[in-house]
Amino acid sequence: MAKILAVDDDAHLLAVMQEWLTHEQHLVDAVGTGLDCWEHLQTAAYDLVILDWDLPDINGVDLLKRYRTAGGTTPVLMLTGRTSVDDKAEGLDSGADDYITKPFHMKELFARIRAALRKGESLPPPKPLATSNQELLNNYGLVGTSLAARYEFIDVLGEGGVGVVFKARHPILDKLVAVKMIQKNELNEEIVARFETEARAISHLDHPNIATVYDYGVTERRQPFMVMEFIEGKTLDQVMRERGLLSFEEALDILIQICDGMSHAHKIGILHRDLKSSNLMLKEVAGSPDVLKILDFGCAKLRGLRAQKSQALTYSGEIVGSPLYISPEQIHGKDADERSDVYSLGCVIYEVLTDCVPHVAEDAIATMVKHVSEDVLPLHQACPNRTFPHEMDQVVSKVLEKDPEKRYQSMCELRTDLEQLRRKVGLKGSTTWWQRLVGPLVKKLKPSATADTSSRL
Ligand SMILES: Nc1ncnc2c1ncn2[C@@H]1O[C@H](COP(=O)(O)OP(=O)(O)O)[C@@H](O)[C@H]1O
Ligand SMILES: [Mg+2]
Repeated sequence: MAKILAVDDDAHLLAVMQEWLTHEQHLVDAVGTGLDCWEHLQTAAYDLVILDWDLPDINGVDLLKRYRTAGGTTPVLMLTGRTSVDDKAEGLDSGADDYITKPFHMKELFARIRAALRKGESLPPPKPLATSNQELLNNYGLVGTSLAARYEFIDVLGEGGVGVVFKARHPILDKLVAVKMIQKNELNEEIVARFETEARAISHLDHPNIATVYDYGVTERRQPFMVMEFIEGKTLDQVMRERGLLSFEEALDILIQICDGMSHAHKIGILHRDLKSSNLMLKEVAGSPDVLKILDFGCAKLRGLRAQKSQALTYSGEIVGSPLYISPEQIHGKDADERSDVYSLGCVIYEVLTDCVPHVAEDAIATMVKHVSEDVLPLHQACPNRTFPHEMDQVVSKVLEKDPEKRYQSMCELRTDLEQLRRKVGLKGSTTWWQRLVGPLVKKLKPSATADTSSRL
């Protein structure tokens, strides 16, 4: 009895092969795409692979080359409609052990399968392909999981009480990804339900200012994970800690991008409910201004979308989000809407402009009391060494209004005022080619000069 992987996008042929091979007492996995084949090769050991050439995603020959380069030793029989001598030579040179062309006679195929299996009996067992950081796999209970077989785990990008985010690489696509998962000792029904909601929320979103999710699954140890776009850069709070105050121009540019991403989310009924500077990342793009990416929809609420099991867990009156950025209505346990995200973004605006959040006290409760009852200091008092256009103060007091009715009613409305402000202080609506070229150079040469100039705007 042998274990055989049959790969063909012709479902009928695949079914016939599977039936016959099973009848011959073999164990058969049948898949229709190159990526599925790759995944199977990483997670299971086979005695033989029967591989088609033309497949929907990765073609059989490219797959074979990568497989052999990565050290894969399983015998491969190519079964393809490509009949030219050149194709046959290429298939065999790429690492196939045998080559049979379609249309073929079943008797010949089965004889060749038997021959390949006889040859394969003397070969050493296949070795795993992904070369992850083993210590990391050990520490996070990922050893032997199909997730660890599919991705090379490189590093930890961020770790909170509940979740952990890894930097990883898909070896065949040669693509960096971020894998977010719940820590194994934090698994409970509510946390898993929230995590599912987060994955579902991001998968509904398709916007350049929101981190994209590629995949979701659960490991053999029942740890849910999601695979996301890897963002090369730093969170907004890290950037401010390292570089100090951003220039007024940079700040407006970033804030407008947050409005754009959040308008998109709101339009399809998704509230973030945890907007804060550590959930915003600045992606570095060579020669261009940074691209803002909104992360962590872990507290998201999906309004109007298909009712989720997790929503039942979000009982009325629940407080979510961080006390430094939470809206007064969330504190009061009211049913928050888009305007609550607008308030949290208001706190980020205040922080980006002055380097301090609008309300902070000795503990979470005292901070929340301030959100509900205290006015914020005007910008020039919070940050005396910087001057601000008076319109900026107007924007800040409107965005941080305690009564949602008096606040900006939408991210779009807020964006309009920020954009107007950007124009009023003489900046263009979008960064021009020479700003892109000179901007990073100026930043590098004289980091404080940009901030000083803009503070006089
Ligand atoms: N897609 C990503 N690319 C790069 N780094 C990321 C990505 N997602 C998260 N991170 C890093 O991991 C940290 C935690 O991620 P986050 O989604 O905010 O999780 P948590 O729910 O633990 O706060 C972030 O602050 C950021 O530094
Ligand atoms: Mg976070």
